[in-house]
Amino acid sequence: MSKIHAAITAVNGYVPDYILTNKELESIVDTTDEWITSRTGIKERRILKGEGLGTSYMAVHAVNGLLKKRGIGAEEIELIIFCTTTPDLPFPASANILADKIGAKNAWGFDLQAACSGFIYGMSTATQFIESGKHKKIIVVGGDKMSSIVNYEDRTTCIIFGDGCGAVLLEPNYEGNGVIDSILKSDGSGKQFLHQKAGGSSRPASHETIDNNEHFVYQEGQAVFKFAVTNMSNVAAEIMERNHLTSEVVTWLVPHQANKRIIDATASRMGIGPEKVMINIERYGNTTNGTIPLCLWEWEGKLKKGDNIILAAFGGGFTWGSVYLKWAY
Ligand code: UT7
Repeated sequence: MSKIHAAITAVNGYVPDYILTNKELESIVDTTDEWITSRTGIKERRILKGEGLGTSYMAVHAVNGLLKKRGIGAEEIELIIFCTTTPDLPFPASANILADKIGAKNAWGFDLQAACSGFIYGMSTATQFIESGKHKKIIVVGGDKMSSIVNYEDRTTCIIFGDGCGAVLLEPNYEGNGVIDSILKSDGSGKQFLHQKAGGSSRPASHETIDNNEHFVYQEGQAVFKFAVTNMSNVAAEIMERNHLTSEVVTWLVPHQANKRIIDATASRMGIGPEKVMINIERYGNTTNGTIPLCLWEWEGKLKKGDNIILAAFGGGFTWGSVYLKWAY
């Protein structure tokens, strides 16, 4: 019997309606459209408004659409991996909340926290369950409501992040398409440059943590930039080398959308032109776990069976990694 690969058989996404433009940000913090555009490539981002709506709200939209596209019922799903840095609650897992909301009564699931590399980690994890034969229908969700942990008085972070969610269905493929390889890395010493200071067990919420703005993203942008540019490029080049892929045979690069300059550096290191790079950062900013599945969703119509696709990400942790897959439909 031929090897089982874990193939994406459907992809869907959801972004909230509200558009926060650079122009509006100019009225909130001391910044300019020119600075944001030239330093990051971002023009606007989506914000989830509405009392009580968390990341799972966006995931419900993304996953219901996914199931409809594939023509299957929620009860057929066996596992949900919810990659997020902004779960609805510290517990229970957003995967459980999502399963309940969509009626995935036969699924188990868990949340996966690897900051901006979460979707890459999630794809690789799900692949193991498909390749082993344990499961036949797995949903990997990547989504974040970053506006819930962004300080809109901090111009160095609030201009970057946005809200959004994407989801893919993974199923066994016997034709050689699907996930071929993945490389996952981490370096916890990078924590100091990108983290949320309070709200966890080492520093629970208190009046003091709230007064000190410690429940927001803390980022030393330049330091993160240096690590991101080097490591995302290196890991994308490494997966190409390991799989004997030349730039000519790579059909698409799907990079995490943190900064257009990091994306350009990665593409250049891989030797591929801009026409092969999925970029939507100008419209959505950095949606953390959402960036890669949202790109796949938006580019789905252009993808062809057998396309060689490289996913690459870098994020807090530090975490980074790459997935090489062959598109299956
Ligand atoms: O997705 C997870 C991983 N995260 C990343 O990959 C993010 C990596 N980092 C970055 O993308 C960039 O470092 C940023 C976009 C965050 C910042 O860009 P930068 O080119 O590294 O700017 P900088 O931090 O070096 O700041 C340059 C100047 C500073 O002013 P002075 O000290 O030179 O006078 C900042 O105060 O720009 C100033 N600045 C701003 N000015 C206008 C910082 N933020 C802003 C702003 N508007 N929003």
